[in-house]
Amino acid sequence: MAETKRTATLTIDGVSHELPIYSPTAGPDVIDIRKLYAEAGLFTYDPGFTSTASCDSTITFIDGGKGELLHRGYPIDQLAGKSHYLEVCYLLLYGELPSAAELEDFEERVTKHTMLHEQMQNFFRGFRRDAHPMAVMVGVVGAMSAFYHDSTDINDEWQREVASIRLIAKMPTIAAWAYKYHVGQPFVYPRNDLDYASNFLRMCFAVPAEEYEVDPILSRAMDRIFTLHADHEQNASTSTVRLASSSGANPFACIAAGIACLWGPAHGGANQACLEMLQEIGSVDRIPEYIARAKDKNDPFRLMGFGHRVYKNFDPRAKVMKQSADEVLDLMGIENNPVLQVAKELEKQALDDPYFADKKLFPNVDFYSGIILEAMGFPTSMFTPIFALSRTVGWISQWKEQLGDPQMKIGRPRQLYLGETHRDYVDIENR
Ligand code: SDX
Repeated sequence: MAETKRTATLTIDGVSHELPIYSPTAGPDVIDIRKLYAEAGLFTYDPGFTSTASCDSTITFIDGGKGELLHRGYPIDQLAGKSHYLEVCYLLLYGELPSAAELEDFEERVTKHTMLHEQMQNFFRGFRRDAHPMAVMVGVVGAMSAFYHDSTDINDEWQREVASIRLIAKMPTIAAWAYKYHVGQPFVYPRNDLDYASNFLRMCFAVPAEEYEVDPILSRAMDRIFTLHADHEQNASTSTVRLASSSGANPFACIAAGIACLWGPAHGGANQACLEMLQEIGSVDRIPEYIARAKDKNDPFRLMGFGHRVYKNFDPRAKVMKQSADEVLDLMGIENNPVLQVAKELEKQALDDPYFADKKLFPNVDFYSGIILEAMGFPTSMFTPIFALSRTVGWISQWKEQLGDPQMKIGRPRQLYLGETHRDYVDIENR
């Protein structure tokens, strides 16, 4: 627990309450309000948790003002440039960069858990072919608790470790098979001689009729996308996983809950919504019309891929993603991709517009990711499943951290009740 150096005095109806203030290693100080209701009979009120720290954590730090993202202290741009996804998984899970031997052992453990129980294929086949892959992922991941029952006891450290490895290892297979089922092609099994990103690309795009060679530049870009989405402090889906876990739910149920929350267009679904918005805009001469709509209070339209609860500067992930988009499109020979041209011009015009500048609305991680994924051959419906695949390690790391927190209690917020006070039932003949 952080130390307290000073207190906040809250005076209510002439009565003063001293509330401890804790100082973190980085970021804002926090006021501990846990005794407020017992002492003063009041709740705090913070819909959307804009000013609320829900937990302690040592995993990820975001400085929204500077546009800085650290995983266990390491900046995201360094990790995206010098590390790779499974090494970042190790860092998030265990807190330190691995030695060569530790990394080899970890990668071996993940590789040996990439296959799914053969009977799980029946779950995929129970969906309509046109089911959104996120619906399939929510269902299949939730069903894992019925197939991997030997790693559901959250009080058993070994089972927690096995569940963690199984989820990180199997998510690419689940996402790829959701895609294959969607397009009516046979499932492709994982291979132990491929790296994590190459395995995923091959499971998505290989067909039994011919050999499939993974392009190393595409697998590097894929791996970088996984890294950029790995964890992000207490975002909505991570908070969902923490809340589900606080009741003692098994890890597969908690991750399924996180996937369900990520699906929303305000969160992980924004990458799909953003590319569809760029395609709808279609050409740079229509950009002013859409910027005007985004600024119009009477129009619910928002620029997808823009704005962020925490970043009030550039999302550092968006910067790396933008560089990657240029590389991948050059490789694919799509230099004049109309969608990328619209994205770059839209970004320029929005950032020059006082509305976005004043509200500190900048491109976020979702603004460019869809352009890369589409160029790699993924349909928009696969964008959020890829985000979910990437974020699984973040959810799992935060899940493990919370289970190890001696302060952990079941999450149970209260409310500001504005409904009817007590009234007696009225028989229907008297209504
Ligand atoms: C992710 O939390 C995370 O860390 C999430 C994430 C992660 O890695 O886990 O980073 C991933 O979810 C990124 C965000 C993806 N979502 C989008 O791109 C959808 C579009 N963005 C917005 O819906 C919005 O910016 C949010 C949801 C991201 C943030 O919303 P907030 O913090 O609740 O801010 P708000 O809705 O209160 O907006 C503040 C003001 C409002 O105007 P006023 O009412 O003050 O006049 O800014 C405006 C909003 O209308 N605004 C926008 C806008 N985003 C905010 N106006 C136009 N276009 C936008 N995109």
